[in-house]
Amino acid sequence: MRDEGNAPVTVSYLTEPHDHREDLLQDVRHGLTAHHKYLPSKYFYDAVGSKLFEQITELPEYYLTRAEAEIIREHADELMAELQPDELLELGSGSSTKTQMLIEAMYRSGPGRRYVPIDISEDALREAAGELRGRYTWLEIEGLVGDYVADLAKIRRRGRRLIIFLGSTVGNYEPTMRYSLLRSVAAALAPGDSFLLGVDLVKDEPTMVAAYDDSAGVSAEFNLNILRVVNRELDGDIPLDAFKHVTRFDVELSCMAQSLRATRPVVANLRKLDLAVTFHEGEEIHTEVSCKFAREQVGRDFEAVGMRVDQWLTDSKGRFALALGSHA
Ligand code: AVJ
Repeated sequence: MRDEGNAPVTVSYLTEPHDHREDLLQDVRHGLTAHHKYLPSKYFYDAVGSKLFEQITELPEYYLTRAEAEIIREHADELMAELQPDELLELGSGSSTKTQMLIEAMYRSGPGRRYVPIDISEDALREAAGELRGRYTWLEIEGLVGDYVADLAKIRRRGRRLIIFLGSTVGNYEPTMRYSLLRSVAAALAPGDSFLLGVDLVKDEPTMVAAYDDSAGVSAEFNLNILRVVNRELDGDIPLDAFKHVTRFDVELSCMAQSLRATRPVVANLRKLDLAVTFHEGEEIHTEVSCKFAREQVGRDFEAVGMRVDQWLTDSKGRFALALGSHA
């Protein structure tokens, strides 16, 4: 799609178009036949799950989104003035206020007129691109459908680059996957480029727990929704009322860990997999980790992939941080 007289919007594929339904079948088969059952957290985000997550970001207990927005509001202009990026490359597609603040600051304080979101979901990319194109006619938008661990190296640089990965999404990766991700980011940075990473910080346990177990029950609904996704996609009959939302802080991993606990024995059929799954009372399906960081940890993670932390910006209450990194 291209509008006359405006900066172009394009969406293209970094990988061959791919049947994600096949992945889901495989992932659920592996996850629900494992000794410790699990479901990958990426399957939270169907239309209902995405709406629920948006509701979560507005809950009084879920401070992460507001804290990160505060840091960006406070520092976006000085960052852009200093970094002078020609392009903003975002891992995940954002039309959020936070992305918009960075795009606007880039316009005010730097030369960049180009936004490159990379996302596994073409629909999400098109939606974000449409939203941004309506607001910023000067912005060149090049949406890329792909996986940001495997495909980042395929994106050609067009000048000085700022890569952003916001929202503490990095917290959803267990350490091994996190290093793969950071390694691929480091490899995509040339000297003079930067990486801006949003991380939630370790803090008192009640505050962290409340963010994942709010009093309105939205976090519980969000977690349970993954069973709805599985039932719908695999023609399954997992009874949602037999599962309870559980969240706990795992000190060892420094992560909030979410799971669904069977409150009675369950036998469920997943017809698309021709699979019967049994749960004993109290058995859990692990669904998500949301890791919490400290400055030293981010320093070690960056160092492990040949980057260093150039700036560490926190919100006024010290709950969340943006780490700015570059090649060491
Ligand atoms: C969007 C992955 C950052 O881990 O805090 C919110 C998702 N899960 N409540 C997070 C989430 C439960 C969220 N991220």
